[in-house]
Amino acid sequence: MIQFLYQDERVALDSAEADLTVLDWLRLHRHRPGTKEGCGSGDCGACTVVTVSVKQDDSGQPVLHHESINSCITFVGALHGKQLLSVESLAQGETLHPVQQAMVEEHGSQCGFCTPGFIMSMYALYQQDEPVNQLRVKIDQALGGNLCRCTGYRPIKAAASKALDYREAQVGSKDAQSGLSDSVNHSDALISRLQILSATVADANGFLQPKTLDTLSGLFKSNPQARLLGGGTDLALEVTQQMKTLTQIIHVSHVPEMRLIEVHADHLVLGAAVTLSECLTLMSDRLPAVRELLLRFGSDQVRNQATIGGNIGSASPIGDLPPLLMALDATLTLRCGDTSRTVPINDYFTGYRQTVLQEGEFVLQVTIPLPAHDSLIAVHKISKRTEDDISSVCMAIHLPQNNGVTQGARVAFGGMAAKPVRAVNTEQALEGSRFDQVTVHAAQAALATELHPIDDARASAGYRLQVAINLLQRVLLGAGK
Ligand SMILES: Cc1cc2nc3c(=O)[nH]c(=O)nc-3n(C[C@H](O)[C@H](O)[C@H](O)COP(=O)(O)OP(=O)(O)OC[C@H]3O[C@@H](n4cnc5c(N)ncnc54)[C@H](O)[C@@H]3O)c2cc1C
Ligand code: FES
Ligand code: FES
Repeated sequence: MIQFLYQDERVALDSAEADLTVLDWLRLHRHRPGTKEGCGSGDCGACTVVTVSVKQDDSGQPVLHHESINSCITFVGALHGKQLLSVESLAQGETLHPVQQAMVEEHGSQCGFCTPGFIMSMYALYQQDEPVNQLRVKIDQALGGNLCRCTGYRPIKAAASKALDYREAQVGSKDAQSGLSDSVNHSDALISRLQILSATVADANGFLQPKTLDTLSGLFKSNPQARLLGGGTDLALEVTQQMKTLTQIIHVSHVPEMRLIEVHADHLVLGAAVTLSECLTLMSDRLPAVRELLLRFGSDQVRNQATIGGNIGSASPIGDLPPLLMALDATLTLRCGDTSRTVPINDYFTGYRQTVLQEGEFVLQVTIPLPAHDSLIAVHKISKRTEDDISSVCMAIHLPQNNGVTQGARVAFGGMAAKPVRAVNTEQALEGSRFDQVTVHAAQAALATELHPIDDARASAGYRLQVAINLLQRVLLGAGK
């Protein structure tokens, strides 16, 4: 049975369809129409809600963690063990929550269609356990997944800033979340309620949520036609955009090995169900170049849901993580039944959305070698919009240095072939060289002939090739300065 809290009320579902979205549950089953449907595809943020789950802080203590998500592309089963808050959850009687009050005072709403989504994104920011001055620089990031077509963003950003003023005034110099007086239960009692719910069996009517690796791999081996679910930010679109019905879903995120995060001196091991938001926290210090890419990946709502394994599992030619993982020589641990095998990510993609995965096999973990300090790492994503857009071209370049010359060059691309690829001739042109104009020309000449980009509505093949050639120049000449 799927169990979660909606506000303070315990909800238990055992007969809902496996592919029922949180948006439809709220609007159609609970008649809470505050949450809006704009696009149904994770792009507009009108459907943003907040989930509260129990995580551990650095000292291992359980804490409440608030995340904004797009309810239109989240299956209701994924709420198991969490608290769901919608825009109806914030005000206490006639008293607005500070984010709502700030939105009124700053005139941040006109037609109002986008407003509940913005409010919930602001609320998620407001609830983060970080000092207010750090949250202020995250306002754009927090609102990057919400579109408004009439008010304009200036008043909305001003409202977010004012809400943080209110928070600062409330907690004074302590500047810690524990001092917040929240309209929704924020307490040890909530932590223990959620812990009790999480511990219960989470399966219901075709939505299976195994809690051990053996159960997951056994289930998928015996039901290879079932669909694996990470965050659902690709899979749910099959339901909302392609109108498919998914009757058997196996959610992988309750298995500890799938959620593993191991940090070693020279490599990271990440479970396939680690989210992009978690990657962002983890990698920003260790791989600063990667931070920029991850901040360009979807929006907060998408990153809070999307998993590293889902990005690899989708095998899209324009997925953003594969080029980076290829440039870093990452390896994948694949699992089928009780057997595991290791595959370099470079050998994983075999064609357009084709991989080496066998029937009933899935991605268990990703091992990412950390580059040496003097290695050049650069990742560039070219898309039409800066925020919340899919790549036309994504380039990841890793040039380890040995006495000023490159040894072990890796150059990988998304959008430049039917699958993510390494540009091996370009790598050879860079091998043993220094960053100068001669090297740039040699690398560009190699790249011009070795890859055959995809040609689609997002960008023409010619545009993609020219962009890739230009990116090489930008990175190499920039590094040579
Ligand atoms: C608004 C929006 C913006 C986006 N922006 C970007 C972007 O900037 N860059 C980008 O690359 N992508 C983007 N995406 C696509 C998507 O978010 C990513 O591909 C994401 O990483 C998918 O992860 P997920 O956990 O949500 O996958 P899911 O949707 O859960 O799964 C995706 C596929 O992988 C399979 N799968 C899941 N887990 C595993 C596993 N462990 N082993 C094998 N197969 C598995 C599923 O069965 C499914 O076929 C965007 C999507 C949306 C809706
Ligand atoms: S309705 Fe647009 S993101 Fe959900
Ligand atoms: S207020 Fe109308 S879309 Fe934002």
